[in-house]
Amino acid sequence: MSTAPHHHAASRTPAKAGRTVRFRIKRCDGPGQPSRWEEFDLSIPPGANVISCLQQIAASPVTIEGRRTTPVVWDSGCLEEVCGACTMVINGKVRQSCSCIIDALAPADGDVITLEPMSKFPVVRDLWVDRSRLFTDLQRARAWVPIDGTYALGDGPRESPEQQQQRYVMSTCMSCGCCLEACPQYHLQPDPETADGFVGAAVINQVRLFNEHATGAVLATERLDLMLEPGGIADCGNSQNCVKVCPKEIPLTESIAAIGRAATIHGFKRFFTARR
Ligand code: SF4
Ligand code: SF4
Ligand code: FES
Repeated sequence: MSTAPHHHAASRTPAKAGRTVRFRIKRCDGPGQPSRWEEFDLSIPPGANVISCLQQIAASPVTIEGRRTTPVVWDSGCLEEVCGACTMVINGKVRQSCSCIIDALAPADGDVITLEPMSKFPVVRDLWVDRSRLFTDLQRARAWVPIDGTYALGDGPRESPEQQQQRYVMSTCMSCGCCLEACPQYHLQPDPETADGFVGAAVINQVRLFNEHATGAVLATERLDLMLEPGGIADCGNSQNCVKVCPKEIPLTESIAAIGRAATIHGFKRFFTARR
């Protein structure tokens, strides 16, 4: 899979009006079922994106051989690149299908667009994958600020505008999974509850986001403990694929370096405390 940045410059060739584009879609009827390819030709209206084309296919699921098939299944939510649900591999690059504009991707008559589900998460059906492992790992990493209580806790600590700005970009993560799909250290593990592999850049970035928050830092020790376990920060091979595909342009390698340093210091402290 290519890890080139997914943000495309507008195509130099103007998109041809009334053109037909072929969609080559990897299909699978359910968990554990074999996958197969099906192709559909679509006449592209101006401004179409991958989701609107999938809707068009769902309305009349007939393959190029003229065979009626089942509608292709995909996941989506916001339709404006903020929920991450519609992430899939499009022409070999992992990205959001709702913001993938056909005029930029396939401007000529007869262009082909290939759609595949992400390979690092179990397929539910067709292009829809189950990202629960990512959410389970975020829970294990205590990716929250612990402020729940039955009484008013008063004002929180003040944060400087510089800190706010730095943390803001980290907070834009939509748990889409692009960074995990592109990561050579992140592997498919079917059961999210028993998965013990590398947590990946998204989770490491959230550990940094919440450890650098004045109140969130109360759980810093637990988060760094997780980072020192198998599947934690030491499993990162530093290939930097993650940062190249993040649609939110989060400086993931900076977060990995920062948590790497913090985990090392934490590891030393833990070692010397344990010896006392
Ligand atoms: S830098 Fe680490 S987290 Fe990012 S893609 Fe490489 S191995 Fe994965
Ligand atoms: S860090 Fe970026 S690529 Fe990874 S899950 Fe968050 S938004 Fe997606
Ligand atoms: S549907 Fe939410 S990011 Fe595409």
